[in-house]
Amino acid sequence: MIADRDVTAQLHARGDVAVVVPAAGAGVRLGPGGPKALRLLEGEPLLVHAVRRLAAAPSVRLIVVAAPPADVDAVHALLAPVAPVTVVAGGAERQESVAAALAAVPEEVAIVLVHDAARCLTPPSVIERVAAAVREGADAVIPVLPVVDTIKEVDGDDIVLGTVDRSALRAVQTPQGFRATMLRAAHAAAADSHTDDAGAVEKLGIPVRCVPGSDLALKITRPIDLALATHLLALPDPDPDAASA
Ligand code: CTP
Ligand code: MG
Repeated sequence: MIADRDVTAQLHARGDVAVVVPAAGAGVRLGPGGPKALRLLEGEPLLVHAVRRLAAAPSVRLIVVAAPPADVDAVHALLAPVAPVTVVAGGAERQESVAAALAAVPEEVAIVLVHDAARCLTPPSVIERVAAAVREGADAVIPVLPVVDTIKEVDGDDIVLGTVDRSALRAVQTPQGFRATMLRAAHAAAADSHTDDAGAVEKLGIPVRCVPGSDLALKITRPIDLALATHLLALPDPDPDAASA
């Protein structure tokens, strides 16, 4: 059992990418229930949906999942039929979960992606796009979408201070891709808590490149997101990008 969880569990031997999957969160905003990654979407845990799409991306050589500490064995059993994965115990903060999984990635893998289990419908085309941008030379890559809402800056009393120029804003998704050495350095240097790994890399002064994200890479956060994801799963061709992946 322990040997199964060893980092030698490989997916596509020709792949050059390791994916770290933080999946240890409680899912408080989703309402009462078990850990979010294990909640069901059309009968399957979110984590299964996420790992199936990662495993379909040819660049992905290995996957390391950070699971809720009480569920490490259950998660390993759940994912074994889906893909060979390494499962480690996550931490109290997302950042700790990422660090625990990153520690299990062998040094010789040069490209690491960090992908939220909660973005469980992210298509393989986005995973490949992020990996390709790192392979082509970027140290850090994030998938983004334009911001569609008008954004206001407000003061502590909810009085509007001004309207932000949204043309310069981007909403950020995962997977975020990194040269492995860069991600390790950023994590080692990060003093403050961060929800976004690219944020830690930015603090090192390293340029972060944006590539197009996908509506399918939405993060399941609130109950309405689960309803939307259920609908997206039923679409005949949910990934319009697939042909150009
Ligand atoms: N995550 C993690 N370890 C934590 C907290 C979060 O691995 N201690 C993971 C989640 O499982 C999720 C991703 O980080 O895949 C993004 O976090 P978020 O969407 O905030 O998920 P939760 O923390 O589970 O949700 P909530 O904040 O509503 O409790
Ligand atoms: Mg959270």
